[in-house]
Amino acid sequence: MSTTVKTRITQALLRVFASDHPIRRRFSDPEKILNGAGVRAGERVLEVGCGRGFFTLPLATRLGDAGSLVAVDVTQAAVDCVANKVKLAGLSNVRVVRANALETRLPAGEWDRVLLFGVVPSPTLPLSRLLAELHRLLKPAGELAVWTAVPGWSPQSVTRSGLFRYNGKSLDVHNFSSL
Ligand SMILES: C[S@@+](CC[C@H](N)C(=O)[O-])C[C@H]1O[C@@H](n2cnc3c(N)ncnc32)[C@H](O)[C@@H]1O
Repeated sequence: MSTTVKTRITQALLRVFASDHPIRRRFSDPEKILNGAGVRAGERVLEVGCGRGFFTLPLATRLGDAGSLVAVDVTQAAVDCVANKVKLAGLSNVRVVRANALETRLPAGEWDRVLLFGVVPSPTLPLSRLLAELHRLLKPAGELAVWTAVPGWSPQSVTRSGLFRYNGKSLDVHNFSSL
């Protein structure tokens, strides 16, 4: 197979797996990943890098009326796309916010759980700065869940910050508690 064909196949796969394409759902069930993160009804959750909302709608539905979700993304197109889906779905417990995850300007100590799904590792999100901001946002002993499709990603890249304790991997999700 030529390099051009391989590159095109890789780009097509990346488009599917970084989107909310139905094919992605067949390989990567958002409900299973939310189970792995231990998300429960009634929680206050922050979703970082919501993209086109692959996780956002099932997540908001699971949190229910007693819970709430703030979904952030740095791109306006992502925010507009997800806000539109939230409106169409009639969900009233979600706020979609354009923000840089490295400096969200959101209030400190408000969230039970932060989700980093399909977001790290990324050259635009240096972990030292990102983790400091997420630690600031979480309640004491709040939970951080990381799901990544990148092979070889190590939870040590989080624990070496000294800000989080590793609680193990469940259904492909790495779970941490804020120290
Ligand atoms: C690969 S996409 C994943 C989207 C979604 N979580 C999913 O799994 O479908 C990564 C997302 O992170 C967002 N992102 C990248 N850097 C960011 C930053 N500094 N702050 C907030 N969002 C960021 C991108 O705009 C993009 O929507």
